[in-house]
Amino acid sequence: MLERQPVPPPEPLCASNALLERGQAFSWDVTQWGRPVRAFALRYDGRVVAYLNRCVHVPTEMDWQPDEFLDMDKRWILCSIHGAHYEPDTGRCAAGPCGRGQLTPIATQERDGQVWWVPTSDIRPVEFDAPAPAADGASDGPR
Ligand code: FES
Repeated sequence: MLERQPVPPPEPLCASNALLERGQAFSWDVTQWGRPVRAFALRYDGRVVAYLNRCVHVPTEMDWQPDEFLDMDKRWILCSIHGAHYEPDTGRCAAGPCGRGQLTPIATQERDGQVWWVPTSDIRPVEFDAPAPAADGASDGPR
């Protein structure tokens, strides 16, 4: 029987002032069901929203430049591949080939000038392995 891992606590993401209103997003790595996925957060109507960076139409990353997700009018999250439009505040598809789909949301919190994201049992922080031990005879510094 598989043992369920406890859900990790909220993770610090970035400083609040790193997310300007309808500005560039902050992207980071998470895992969904143990597989690596990019995620992004941006500020829209004053609130921080976050989603997996994966289009509903074809499961690919959507930003048209690194950390640029909004269209020219700063109204929609726009997929750069085939132009799907998503509502920034809900992630719901509004137009284009995303049908009745919705981006996968990630809960966020903001307090004391810091943005946090909230892991779930499915979407978790990337776990980094402990550093590999030095090989025999390897040096810690210059010789
Ligand atoms: S992959 Fe996003 S609209 Fe086609």
